[in-house]
Amino acid sequence: MKILFYDTKSYDRESFQESLENFPGITVEYTKSDLDPRTAALAEGFDAVCAFVNSDVGSQTLEILHGKKISLVLMRCAGFNNVDLDKAKSCGIRVMRVPGYSPEAVAEHAMALALASNRRLHKAYNKVRENDFSLSGLMGFNFYQKTAGIIGTGKIGAAMCRICRGFGMKVIAYDVYHNESLADFVEYVPLDRLLSDSDVISLHCPLTDSTYHLINIDTIKKMKDGVILVNTSRGALVKTEDLIEGIRMHKFAGVGLDVYEEETDNVFEDRSDEILEHSTTARLLSFPNVMITSHQGFFTREALASIASTTLHNAADFSAGKQSANDV
Ligand code: NAI
Repeated sequence: MKILFYDTKSYDRESFQESLENFPGITVEYTKSDLDPRTAALAEGFDAVCAFVNSDVGSQTLEILHGKKISLVLMRCAGFNNVDLDKAKSCGIRVMRVPGYSPEAVAEHAMALALASNRRLHKAYNKVRENDFSLSGLMGFNFYQKTAGIIGTGKIGAAMCRICRGFGMKVIAYDVYHNESLADFVEYVPLDRLLSDSDVISLHCPLTDSTYHLINIDTIKKMKDGVILVNTSRGALVKTEDLIEGIRMHKFAGVGLDVYEEETDNVFEDRSDEILEHSTTARLLSFPNVMITSHQGFFTREALASIASTTLHNAADFSAGKQSANDV
């Protein structure tokens, strides 16, 4: 089987090349272009394409892929909101994905953001580089014996609960379903109580109609003063304008964001030479207690190895005509 791999970064190529040793029947060619209607024709002569979160796997793209006799789209991510599944079905194109790769990768990054924003590590790093060894502006608080509030206790939220327990924190959670594996140390509470009782709040629910702008000025006002808020889930869970208002109200000791509403044009791009007009990201970064990273929660060796191995297993299952739980 021949796969054309779109939107290749050097780290993708490394992890896939390493995993390919275990799949002698599969060859992969890499292109830096992302998959969209303009680049779909590059798949001529291949059996499958491999795409990512920002690829355009809409109706037009699928039509072109179908014309090039592509019968498999391998999504190397969990989400598939960018795939027109009805169109894929009508073209007879099978779509497979990687439902979970390393919950701990994202949860550990969430805790890293909580700790870094609490102790102002982003500030401290720059201060010391400028020979400023003073401690002003760097005071944080102990996490030990404080309350962590976890919103969404699926795979990643559960990993975050375990990490918070390891820090000696009391762990409370809000989810529409209760995760039985956490029963011995997590107390499920209504959302309002989670907001009012937590010293650190971390978001791990998916973006749906019911979670869109879950964090807004009303929910922010219900939080404890001096709370730390972390979002490694999806940007639109937080209404950015309201977050900025909350920061100006001195509500937060720290805010750590791996995702934010405006991220789509930024994610994985170097825009250091551009003047970003109307940027709410720039406004957020002007606050000393805000730390932002660019959607890197998933980015560990283990997660990339797991993504590569599962994607290639999906391709092998397809070749063997096997059904799979990873079918979308
Ligand atoms: P999951 O599906 O295992 O867990 C999601 C949990 O959220 C479930 O327990 C579900 O019941 C709960 N939930 C759904 N609606 C809710 C609501 N209205 N209120 C409260 N809880 C609700 O998903 P997983 O793997 O833990 O991923 C969570 C999120 O993390 C994903 O949706 C994705 O947005 C994000 N993510 C971020 C990454 C990054 O690199 N920053 C990488 C991978 C995922």
